[in-house]
Amino acid sequence: MGSLMWFSQILCLSFMLLQFRVQSSSPSQSSLNSSPHLCRPEERSALLDFKSTTKLGEYCFDTPRPILQTWNESKDCCLWEGIACDKRNGHVIGLDLSGNCLEANLTTNSSLFRLEKLQSLNLSDNYFHYPNISFGFNRWKSLTYLNLSGLTYLNLSGSEYMYGSLPFDEIFLLSKLVSLDLSDNYGLLLDNIKFQMLVHNLTELRFLILDFMDMSLVVPSSLLNLTSSLEHLSFSDCNLQGIPNRVFQLPSLQVLDLSSNPYLGDLQNNRLTEPIDHVEMPNLILQEVYLSNNDMSGSIPSFFFDLVRLASVDLSSNNLTGTITRDMLSKLVNLEDLDLSNNSLLSLSNNGSVVNYSFLPSLQSLTFSSCNIHKFPGFLRKAEKLRELDISNNKISGQIHKWEIEGMSSLHYLNLSYNFLTGIDLFGFGNLSTVDLRSNLLQGSPPILSTTWYSMQQLFISGNNLTGEIPSSYCNLTSLEVLDLANNSLGGKIPECLGNLSNLLFLDLRMNKFHGRIPNSFVIPNYISSLLTLSLNGNQLEGILPRSLVNCRYLELLDVGNNNLNDTFPHWLGVLPSLQVLILRSNRFHGAINDSMPASHFPQLRIVDVAQNNFMGLLPSNYFKILKGMRDVAPVDVEWEYSDNYTACLRDGHCHKIYKESVKVVMKGSERELVRILRTFTTIDFSSNQFHGPIPDKLGELNALLLLNLSHNSLNGQIPSSLGKLAELESLDLSSNKLEGRIPEQLTKLTFLSVLNLSHNELVGHIPEGKQFSTFSNDSYIGNSGLCGFPLTKKCGEPRPPSSQFDEEDDSTTVFEWKFALAGYGCGLVLGLSLGYIAFTIGKPWWCNQVRLISYFRADLATVAS
Ligand SMILES: *[C@@H]1O[C@H](CO)[C@@H](O)[C@H](O)[C@H]1NC(C)=O
Ligand SMILES: *[C@@H]1O[C@H](CO)[C@@H](O)[C@H](O)[C@H]1NC(C)=O
Ligand SMILES: *[C@@H]1O[C@H](CO)[C@@H](O)[C@H](O)[C@H]1NC(C)=O
Ligand SMILES: *[C@@H]1O[C@H](CO)[C@@H](O)[C@H](O)[C@H]1NC(C)=O
Ligand SMILES: *[C@@H]1O[C@H](CO)[C@@H](O)[C@H](O)[C@H]1NC(C)=O
Ligand SMILES: *[C@@H]1O[C@H](CO)[C@@H](O)[C@H](O)[C@H]1NC(C)=O
Ligand SMILES: *[C@@H]1O[C@H](CO)[C@@H](O)[C@H](O)[C@H]1NC(C)=O
Ligand SMILES: *[C@@H]1O[C@H](CO)[C@@H](O)[C@H](O)[C@H]1NC(C)=O
Ligand SMILES: *[C@@H]1O[C@H](CO)[C@@H](O)[C@H](O)[C@H]1NC(C)=O
Ligand SMILES: *[C@@H]1O[C@H](CO)[C@@H](O)[C@H](O)[C@H]1NC(C)=O
Ligand SMILES: *[C@@H]1O[C@H](CO)[C@@H](O)[C@H](O)[C@H]1NC(C)=O
Repeated sequence: MGSLMWFSQILCLSFMLLQFRVQSSSPSQSSLNSSPHLCRPEERSALLDFKSTTKLGEYCFDTPRPILQTWNESKDCCLWEGIACDKRNGHVIGLDLSGNCLEANLTTNSSLFRLEKLQSLNLSDNYFHYPNISFGFNRWKSLTYLNLSGLTYLNLSGSEYMYGSLPFDEIFLLSKLVSLDLSDNYGLLLDNIKFQMLVHNLTELRFLILDFMDMSLVVPSSLLNLTSSLEHLSFSDCNLQGIPNRVFQLPSLQVLDLSSNPYLGDLQNNRLTEPIDHVEMPNLILQEVYLSNNDMSGSIPSFFFDLVRLASVDLSSNNLTGTITRDMLSKLVNLEDLDLSNNSLLSLSNNGSVVNYSFLPSLQSLTFSSCNIHKFPGFLRKAEKLRELDISNNKISGQIHKWEIEGMSSLHYLNLSYNFLTGIDLFGFGNLSTVDLRSNLLQGSPPILSTTWYSMQQLFISGNNLTGEIPSSYCNLTSLEVLDLANNSLGGKIPECLGNLSNLLFLDLRMNKFHGRIPNSFVIPNYISSLLTLSLNGNQLEGILPRSLVNCRYLELLDVGNNNLNDTFPHWLGVLPSLQVLILRSNRFHGAINDSMPASHFPQLRIVDVAQNNFMGLLPSNYFKILKGMRDVAPVDVEWEYSDNYTACLRDGHCHKIYKESVKVVMKGSERELVRILRTFTTIDFSSNQFHGPIPDKLGELNALLLLNLSHNSLNGQIPSSLGKLAELESLDLSSNKLEGRIPEQLTKLTFLSVLNLSHNELVGHIPEGKQFSTFSNDSYIGNSGLCGFPLTKKCGEPRPPSSQFDEEDDSTTVFEWKFALAGYGCGLVLGLSLGYIAFTIGKPWWCNQVRLISYFRADLATVAS
């Protein structure tokens, strides 16, 4: 659990930083004051007036720190949180309310405008009533720092989100501004006239951040008039139509972010690539350049490799071509972070003069995934500071030798997945903590790992051609959290000692040839096993499910399908509080499923698949009743992907992702739209056993169910009309049983039903008509000689029975609603998670990098089923 906590703490920490930076900055400024009544009464009352018209917004991450509660008359207002005063005269000069989830009403008359000496104002990540954020900015003539990023606009009643608006006419007259951040305000349009005003009037600017502003009407050449004092320029996601190459020559520029402007490289006259090459005097102080997602083509302009101060470069997700050679990189002695991934025609070559000097001495992270590399860049062997190397999804083949890698003594994260490697000598590396070798052509035994590798946390070698057994030395990797050896040809027994790895979260040994029993070693003295996922599907394991699994208190997924296990139904797993997925499919499980389970059992179970076993007796109707995880499922919006392909795919080939609950949603500006809250994937598959008796009515209560398969049993009686209440059902298979009577009309209420199979039963009478039923073919009904009506050719003799009691309880069954959700750019949407997993993929602001850290192993373990 330790590391999981750690990951979620990073997440929390990021948010806390975001929200509470306020406290770390301002009090230190004001606490220097000695005078107890420094604060000016008129300014204090202005602040209190503001407080009285401001409340906490509705959607906040956790409980925001109640900053305004410290705004209290009994204390000097210079000591309030978020306030900074001028020590000489007590004027409020700084106001930082960023990220406090405040819902404010900033009108023309707002008392805030009475703080006439304000120099620094940060209102980012709050809510404002629209259109009342305005008019009065020009009174803040001394303002040098203004941050209005990530605002969320509400209509006057506070009930709906609106497109944003900002008083550009006033802001662009604040000629003393040094720093202006208007980013992440969705729906703002900055036209050319306003932009001209900005560039002409704000001549002191050093920081200008306009990310997500719609600048499609800005004439590219007007960027030439940007002030030469600019140090940090960020126009990411601005829909820019071009950019003059001389922007690179702004003499003070250190950070340039023009990422995600897809038309930048497209315009004939403003192709970023070609003219840029003619930059005569490269800016020698430029340190960070972000040009990802720009649809740039051609080769990387050569002047780039002369920018000797460059520390961080991101050219990922373009259409760059050519080959980067060792010599080209050799001048970039300050380069720390280079991302060239997703340029499918870009390659890297070892060619160049012999490296006898310290090569790329500062490089810490190199990401070159999904490009066109054919050979391992051996010249990196001297990159002593390199911590992260990702050259996954290239065309690297053959063997990687020890000498090619042994100098990378700091390497920590190595991703070579999706290549054509036949071997690698991992002994060459030092303190790796993540190694990803998935989907290569590795042969022979699993790599032997040095026993000194206590730091190894994640080891992915699935999808290779490994043979032999799991080396028992793996049991010495005491920090191991993820062991993924799925889809190989490994055999032998699963080492008993793997159960001793007390930090293991994910153990995936699917699709191998393991035999023998599942180790009964999940009992660790003084430890509770931290295992979350245990996947042993598709082996030749025998015997029973080890009872010690009950010690895995955090287990969420247990997949032992497609083995030779011989056991009864594991009721005893019902006490596991988090178990969500239980797959026993295709084994020799047998006996009846005891129907008298305590109501507290299996509280989270969402996917249960016991198909193709020898279970018998009645279907456990109480058991269905207690499955809370399949009822009243809270709307969810965080993806939680499983690799269990077959459970996640419907027969028609329509596959689903599996989603996990989240707790709260906070909005942080950026794009928002109405989206359907995603549903948890819930399935029951009891097919191909020997169950008999009726289908329990109570199944109808599992109203979050998406897939129900009871086929190939000996069920009899009628199809319960309660199944019509399974409002989310997409697939219903009751075929090859002995069901009799009519098909209930209520089934026509299943508006999402796309697969229906009732074939080979003893059903009679009219097939219901209308809605989804008009889409099913003969195949859904064959083998029922008593059925008639569409789509069968057999006409019904008698008239269709009236559809009675059809409209009852219609409203009480709707669980899922359409709700507002923010489809932000990953980070616009901030989610609080119960367990701290997260599967964001796109990162925007700085703290997103941390989120990515969390997501990679989560997402990588799970092949996306979709
Ligand atoms: C002001 O703060 C003090 C202590 O911080 C508290 O006792 C008092 O009730 C507060 N007054 C108001 C009006 O909130
Ligand atoms: C916002 O201010 C306007 C004008 O002063 C006022 O009419 C409105 O009621 C205020 N709204 C809220 C929520 O305070
Ligand atoms: C602003 O204040 C003036 C006078 O103080 C008042 O006449 C006007 O209605 C106020 N405007 C708003 C929008 O509250
Ligand atoms: C808000 O502004 C202050 C400076 O006044 C700055 O230190 C802080 O980082 C800013 N917060 C955010 C979230 O931008
Ligand atoms: C601001 O810019 C506008 C448009 O470029 C210009 O007309 C105006 O004179 C400028 N104002 C100041 C105070 O510089
Ligand atoms: C830049 O500003 C100058 C005057 O300050 C003006 O003549 C020129 O047209 C501007 N350039 C562009 C591209 O707007
Ligand atoms: C990249 O270039 C190829 C061919 O040059 C083109 O077919 C493809 O559409 C380009 N991709 C993008 C994203 O522009
Ligand atoms: C895996 O290895 C076996 C024997 O080593 C070989 O016969 C087989 O072709 C290999 N499979 C692949 C996909 O390389
Ligand atoms: C595991 O570590 C122990 C002691 O740290 C050592 O005695 C043992 O040989 C190691 N086992 C393997 C297989 O490396
Ligand atoms: C399952 O195990 C029992 C003994 O526990 C044995 O009698 C039975 O034959 C086994 N069934 C199969 C199918 O192996
Ligand atoms: C899932 O299985 C289907 C067929 O069984 C296969 O076509 C598909 O590629 C698989 N998807 C994944 C993500 O493994």
